[in-house]
Amino acid sequence: MKTVVSKLLVSIASASIVLGVVPACTVERESSDEGTERNEADVSKDEPSYFKIKNVDVSPKIDVKMATAGKEIFETKCGACHKYDERYVGPPLGKVTARRTPEYVMNMILFPETMQDNDDTVKALIQTFMLRMPNLNLQEQDARNVLEHLRDYAQKN
Ligand code: HEC
Repeated sequence: MKTVVSKLLVSIASASIVLGVVPACTVERESSDEGTERNEADVSKDEPSYFKIKNVDVSPKIDVKMATAGKEIFETKCGACHKYDERYVGPPLGKVTARRTPEYVMNMILFPETMQDNDDTVKALIQTFMLRMPNLNLQEQDARNVLEHLRDYAQKN
């Protein structure tokens, strides 16, 4: 019994060591990746009130699994209207994460109608493209995966 208890104590102790180390790593990674961060639109903590998605957690480091899943969704559901580098039925999206916030992109994918009714940038896009982007009824996680793919694409191209 004694050994079980002391083993438990040891694992709790090592768990807290690991936990203690994690924030230190995160801080370090953020500062060394500053260059990459500047590629992206500033994350404003003050998004417009009509944004239904208020805050999207993005890390400077791309989540490869999410980006891979997102690429497939992009190709099947968005490619009919969007290319990466040229105007098509809708605007090019290869660098969209450099000109828009993650929150904007998520709201645009999940709640295009709300954006079209309220957002001046989107209203101007409708004038230019003479079409309102339809709601594709994506799950939130699918939309998040597409965002990760677009962040990945923008960083690499
Ligand atoms: C039927 C055509 C169509 C499909 C399919 C479509 N879009 Fe769009 N999209 C548009 C049009 C047209 C606009 C510009 C007018 C508007 O915003 O309604 C637009 C605008 C956007 C914008 C805003 C771009 C900017 O510069 O601000 C984003 C982001 C976007 N679409 C993402 C997507 C994603 C991601 C998908 C797939 C999940 C997708 N769209 C599928 C037609 C489409």
